[in-house]
Amino acid sequence: MGRLLIVSNRLPVTVKAGRGGAVEIQLSTGGLATGMKGPHERLGGLWIGWPGDLEGLSAAARDEADARLAEHRLVPVPLSADEIARYYEGYSNAILWPLFHYSAARLPPEVSGFDVYERVNARFAGAVADQWREGDLVWIHDYQLMLVPAMLRERLPGARIGFFLHIPFPSSEIFRLLPQRERLLEGLLGADLLGFHTSTFVRHFASSALRLVGATTEVDRVRWRGREVRLGVFPMGIDAAHFDALARSPEVEERARAHRAEGTPILLGIDRLDYTKGIQRRLLAYEALLRAHPELRKKVRLVQVAVPSRENVEAYRELRDEVDALVGRIHGEYATPGWSPIHYLYRGLAPPDLVALYRAADAVLVTPLRDGMNLVAKEFVAARPDGDGVLVLSEFAGAAAELAEALLVNPYDVEHTAEVFHRALTLPEDERRTRMALLRERVLGHDVHGWARAFVAALEQVEAAGGRVETA
Ligand code: G6P
Repeated sequence: MGRLLIVSNRLPVTVKAGRGGAVEIQLSTGGLATGMKGPHERLGGLWIGWPGDLEGLSAAARDEADARLAEHRLVPVPLSADEIARYYEGYSNAILWPLFHYSAARLPPEVSGFDVYERVNARFAGAVADQWREGDLVWIHDYQLMLVPAMLRERLPGARIGFFLHIPFPSSEIFRLLPQRERLLEGLLGADLLGFHTSTFVRHFASSALRLVGATTEVDRVRWRGREVRLGVFPMGIDAAHFDALARSPEVEERARAHRAEGTPILLGIDRLDYTKGIQRRLLAYEALLRAHPELRKKVRLVQVAVPSRENVEAYRELRDEVDALVGRIHGEYATPGWSPIHYLYRGLAPPDLVALYRAADAVLVTPLRDGMNLVAKEFVAARPDGDGVLVLSEFAGAAAELAEALLVNPYDVEHTAEVFHRALTLPEDERRTRMALLRERVLGHDVHGWARAFVAALEQVEAAGGRVETA
C-alpha cells in the first residue's frame, strides 16, 4: 500500500521563535490546515509544507523544530524572507487571492512575483519528489501551489497526482485577466484529478481550460496534450464529531451558560480578518438593524472575533484599521454606560472558547463576499447538539450550495441583510429547530474524513499519468 503525501503551502502547525529564541509550535489557522489535520492523522503518510517564518531561530533551534515536526510526519519546506515577501505575501496573497475572490480592483498596477512563485513551486515539487516512493499518492492543495502538478509530472511521469482548490475558481472572464493564466492552467493540468468545492467552480475551470489553452472539455474531465484530467466536486466538511463532542463537554456548557447569563441575545461573527469575509458590510448591516429596530438597543449584542491573518500584506493592515474605525463609530453612536453593542476581539480563540461561543449564540453570521466553502458555518452547526441556533449564510459562500436551510443573504444588500438578522433573532423555535436538524444531518453526515476518503478513492481510481488517451 502506498502512502498519502499531502502537500500544501502551510503546515497544520506553525513554528515560531518564542521568548529567548526558543522553539514555539502553534496550531495554524485557516480552513485548509484545520480541516486536513484529522485526515492526515488518520490516513498516515506525510504532509509537506511551509513551517512558518523561522526568522529569529538559531540553527540548533531549527534542528529541534525539524525533529518535532518529524514526530508528526510533517516535512518542512522553509522559505527565505524574500520568498515569503514575493511568493506568499506577493503573488499568492496580493494577486491570486483577490482575483480568485473577484476583487480585480485590488490587483496592483504591475503583477509581479511570478518568477519567485515559480521557483518556490519548483522547490515544493522537488521536496515531494524526494519523498515519493512507488505506489504513493500525491495530494496537492490550493492556489499557492498551482504549478506543482505539472512540475511533479515531469519528474515523476507515472505518479498519481491530485490537486484540490480550497478557494473559488472564478469565472473565466475574471481568470483571464491574469497575465500568467496559461501557465497556471498548464500547471494544474499536470494532475490526474482536480477537485473543487462546487460544480460552479468546476464549470468555471473547464471554460477557462477550453478558452485559454484549447483543452477539450466534458462535464467531469478535460483532455489536453494527450492526457485526460478528471474534474470532481468534493465539498469539504469538518471534523463534525469532534465539534459535537466538544460542544457537549461540561466545560464548554459551563462557559456557554456564562455567556448567556446576561440574557441579551448574541449574534456572532468568527472570521480570519480578511476582506473577502464581508466584515465591514456585516457591521453596517448590524448598524442598520439597530437603526431600524430601536427596541433591540440594549437588548442584543454582536460578538465579532477577527483572527489576525497575513498582517504583512497591505490590504490586510488597511482592513484592520477600517474595521477598528467602524466598530468605534457604531460604539460611539449606540453604546450606553451599561451596554456595548459590539464585543470586538482581534485574536484567535482556543477551541473550547470558540465552541462555547457557538453554543451560546442565537445566530451566527457568515456573510463573506466570496468564499470557497467557509467552514465556520459548518463548525457552528456541528457545535449545536442542543438543536437550536440560526445560521445566516451568504449566497456567495461555497457552503450555500449545501446548506440550503440557512437564512441566505446577499451581503451586498446591507438593508436586506439587516432584516435577515432581525428575522434570525425572531424566528419561532420550531422553525429554528427544523432548520438546524436538517443542517446537522448534512454536516454530521458529510464530514472531513468522508471528504478526504472520497477524494483519495477517486484519485486511486484514475489510471496513473492521466490515462493516456488518443489525441483527438
Ligand atoms: C484559506 C486558504 C488556505 C490558507 C488559509 C490561511 O483557507 O485557502 O490555503 O492556508 O486561508 O491563510 P494563510 O495565508 O495564513 O495560510
